[in-house]
Amino acid sequence: MRYFLMILFLVGFASCEQKSTTKVLYLAHNMPQTHPVHKGILTFQESLSKRSEGTLVIKVFPDGQLGSEREVLELLQIGSVAITKVSAATMSNFVPDYDVLNIPYLFRDNDHFFNVLEGEIGKSLLEKGSDFWLRGLCFYDAGSRNFFTKDKPIRTPEDLEGLKIRVMNNEISIKMVNSLGGSATPMAFSELYTAIQQGVVDGAENNPPSFVSSNQYEVSKYYTLDEHTSVPDVLIISTKYWDKLSAKEKQWVQEAANESAQAEKKYWNASVEESMQKLKESGVEIIVPDKSLFAEKSMSVLEEMIKDERLKELVEKIKAE
Ligand code: GCU
Repeated sequence: MRYFLMILFLVGFASCEQKSTTKVLYLAHNMPQTHPVHKGILTFQESLSKRSEGTLVIKVFPDGQLGSEREVLELLQIGSVAITKVSAATMSNFVPDYDVLNIPYLFRDNDHFFNVLEGEIGKSLLEKGSDFWLRGLCFYDAGSRNFFTKDKPIRTPEDLEGLKIRVMNNEISIKMVNSLGGSATPMAFSELYTAIQQGVVDGAENNPPSFVSSNQYEVSKYYTLDEHTSVPDVLIISTKYWDKLSAKEKQWVQEAANESAQAEKKYWNASVEESMQKLKESGVEIIVPDKSLFAEKSMSVLEEMIKDERLKELVEKIKAE
């Protein structure tokens, strides 16, 4: 079915190009429409339409309509979809340097996080993707990730012992949960609600807006603010589209992306507040643990990663920012 749809898109895109000077770019992502990153994407859409005077049009497919993050990145690589927004964790399966952004407790604070992502390190990561047909346009704030569980509260890493915890499909995320004593279970985001409900997993981990907008909080009693990772989201354009844009069009796309990244920060902060409020009202118990226990126990992930010289250098650069 997906491949049938894909062919339809291709034909649609081609015919659009022939009939007029308007170019329609398909943008697919897996978040609900109430999510702050979706709102950032709408800013991108609007800004690009304005800058290009309606000649570059973005059509957005939210809610994982065109597949999981991994599947959509593959569609970008073959040129069936133009743009996507994924987690940097998913990107690292395609562009290995992104691995560095999955390291637990890597960033000191928000200033450090944005200095790295909006500075030279971030720019070079975004460009690096072009070697894999996946050019980065900008990063979006995706806050910090925290554990949530169905029946058993997590107050210390020892409480994770024996629990099946869903993680994103990425090696470092798996190692992170295993290092803390849990049993990591990779799975697509769209499958998680049912998996918790049916007891296929005992819990998972995510930032407040994703936890709430996906309704996963309805099937979870506890949310532990251990903030183990701050993995950003990233807006990606297929080089199969990018390379065909004129210099002016590239400039509009990049400027619209930059504008949306700044707007998204505001949507994000507002959404974190609203989401935490909603969790409290819904009776989800919010646990504030001693983060240093989690940081210490997950240190082995960093130690193992920096055995790779390339990643070691990147980690050092990030720490020096
Ligand atoms: C976050 C992230 C998504 C990712 C999701 C997940 O919400 O922004 O890109 O898909 O986590 O846990 O799968």
